[in-house]
Amino acid sequence: MSETQANSSAPNSLPSPADTLLPTYTRAQLALRNGQDRDEIWVAYQGNIYDVSRSRLWRRGNHYEHWAGQDLTRELDHDAPHTPNVFDNFPIIGRLISPVK
Ligand code: HEM
Repeated sequence: MSETQANSSAPNSLPSPADTLLPTYTRAQLALRNGQDRDEIWVAYQGNIYDVSRSRLWRRGNHYEHWAGQDLTRELDHDAPHTPNVFDNFPIIGRLISPVK
């Protein structure tokens, strides 16, 4: 099993040993991937950073008045009409330094 498959299979689980192989990013680095400044569109949830660049629902970094390039843990848990399973089809490309607890 590849590293990506191992990590994307259970986005809500505790960090697995494979997570330690992922690169880490600061909030400032994440903010550059907001869909405006670069082609990459990244979203953080519970410490994991997901690449949602290929999603039609995140074009230009905007998703139902939510913006990429941020930790959207609270927003998903409190505002979204769906579960975190929406991330199942997207790769975890890194870990956020100091995510919201
Ligand atoms: C008012 C808030 C929100 C609304 C109305 C909304 C609505 C939707 C809808 C209708 C879908 C597609 C159908 C589904 O899977 O249920 C979707 C998918 C998705 N949502 Fe949200 N959402 C909201 C907030 C969020 C937040 C805060 C996040 C991120 C942390 C998020 C991440 C995603 C992702 C990754 C997908 C999958 C996109 C794809 O498959 O292309 N959503 N959302």
